[in-house]
Amino acid sequence: MSPIGLLYGVAFLSTLVTGQALVGPAACATLKSSLSNVEVINSILHPDFISSRYTYWNSRQSSYTPSCIFYPTSAQDISTAIKVIRTTGSRFAIKAGGHNPNDFFSSVDQGVLIDLKKMNGKSYDAETTLATYEPGNKFGDLYEFYAPLGRTVVGARLAGVGTGLALSGGLSFISPQYGMACDSFRSLEIVLPSGEIVTASPESNPDLFFASRGGGGNAYGVVTKYTVQSRPAGQFFAGNIFYLFEQTLDVLDAINNFAAYNTDPKASIIGTYEKLPTPDLTLNLDEFIIIFLVYDGPDAGDAFQNFTSIPSFLNTMSIKTYPEVTNMPAPMSGELSRGANTFRVAVQRVHGTAVHDVYANWNAWAESHKGDYFLISLDFQPVAKSLTDASNAYEGGNAMQMPEGPWMWINYLITLPPLTTAANYKRIQASFKAMVEAIPNAKGLPLFINDASFDQNPLETYGGYETLKIAKAKYDPEGFFSSKTGGWKFT
Ligand SMILES: Cc1cc2nc3c(=O)[nH]c(=O)nc-3n(C[C@H](O)[C@H](O)[C@H](O)COP(=O)(O)OP(=O)(O)OC[C@H]3O[C@@H](n4cnc5c(N)ncnc54)[C@H](O)[C@@H]3O)c2cc1C
Ligand SMILES: *[C@@H]1O[C@H](CO)[C@@H](O)[C@H](O)[C@H]1NC(C)=O
Repeated sequence: MSPIGLLYGVAFLSTLVTGQALVGPAACATLKSSLSNVEVINSILHPDFISSRYTYWNSRQSSYTPSCIFYPTSAQDISTAIKVIRTTGSRFAIKAGGHNPNDFFSSVDQGVLIDLKKMNGKSYDAETTLATYEPGNKFGDLYEFYAPLGRTVVGARLAGVGTGLALSGGLSFISPQYGMACDSFRSLEIVLPSGEIVTASPESNPDLFFASRGGGGNAYGVVTKYTVQSRPAGQFFAGNIFYLFEQTLDVLDAINNFAAYNTDPKASIIGTYEKLPTPDLTLNLDEFIIIFLVYDGPDAGDAFQNFTSIPSFLNTMSIKTYPEVTNMPAPMSGELSRGANTFRVAVQRVHGTAVHDVYANWNAWAESHKGDYFLISLDFQPVAKSLTDASNAYEGGNAMQMPEGPWMWINYLITLPPLTTAANYKRIQASFKAMVEAIPNAKGLPLFINDASFDQNPLETYGGYETLKIAKAKYDPEGFFSSKTGGWKFT
């Protein structure tokens, strides 16, 4: 049967039997016949299938079984695949780096998984200083590629994260200088839900360009190429300082003072509080504080003095390359942290007691729920005025329409113990959610979608939300992406 005949047959079948268990395999069969030169794997034992399925940062996503995994190598492949999938009525998912922890954002059960990992081209134009990369790269691959050229792109603070980060904003160590990752976008190639391949830029489809600058992935189409303003990158003075919890209150003050008073855009931090499940009453080694301190340049002056003056048990500050900066902390790695991970986000202002209230509330929950997690962490991420100025200086600002800094995004991470039962999973998640919600967010600030749980409705907090809704209705008019893949909801 010709691919077209098969398409009609499958469309007919899907109206009779709506079960995803039937339309998923049907979509895969049609993909195979219409794109005979592209890899479509449906054996769950195939090494590629295994590697795509088991490289989610939230291991829960690996429990879902796609009907097949499709590895496009071009925008044209994706265009054909999108048309086939739409005709069959199958569910699908788009996977870049697989770090989004939310169910079905980049995973699918009994549908087509589009794994972008073979689209890993990258280039640099020395004349324009623009960098171009495809979506299958991890940011670490990009940093390694651009570092010998003395350049980098604005992206993840940990090398293992994928490019989906940028479509949802993207907070980088160099963001206080250049804004969010999406603020460096100059032009995007996008396969629309219709299958049409278009360019989004300030001149071409500007509404799509706006929505793609922080409005989230898998909503308006599939981005197949990013052209971005590259940034200079040479020597960094950077490292981690590890403290015991005895220093909690002093370190909290240092984080808050940094967020409130630091005015040097080359200085950037993340402050993280971590707890392990085992009570350890003698040495208190079940809990520790890790601060990430990054200065763009070899001499940080006194930017980090409020941290270095507090007694610590390990300090790894040294001159580093940008790839080294994004592989901190040295003894650990973002990739080792795969597990039953979920995120929740909060936002607070930095003048007042919010940071202390957030910590006390989190600490009380963590201490009274020792058996309920494998790891729990609380991350403070300052958003400087220089960052929001940089965001707002480009093309009228991004999808968040960032209110003037300083303020702070707070990321709550919980890793559930391996083998948590379904009933316990529900109970722990509900209790964790209630803990986060016990401290109300500051009004008028956006909830960062890269750190948000699916149920937090973060897009509604964006200054550009009404514009995003219009773009969503225009570019996904039949609600194909809304109904057939996961992602943020538009109400
Ligand atoms: C260890 C770790 C470190 C992190 N560090 C940072 C950080 O420093 N800064 C920060 O801002 N965030 C950070 N995050 C959050 C991170 O940005 C999000 O988890 C993001 O969704 C990851 O993107 P990804 O490509 O790896 O994941 P994926 O799950 O593959 O993709 C994320 C979402 O985008 C969609 N998508 C991806 N590519 C495309 C495309 N080309 N076209 C259309 N849709 C697409 C996917 O369908 C999915 O819904 C971190 C997360 C983890 C787990
Ligand atoms: C350090 O903290 C003090 C308040 O104790 C503050 O005035 C100062 O600006 C901070 N320094 C830096 C570099 O952030």
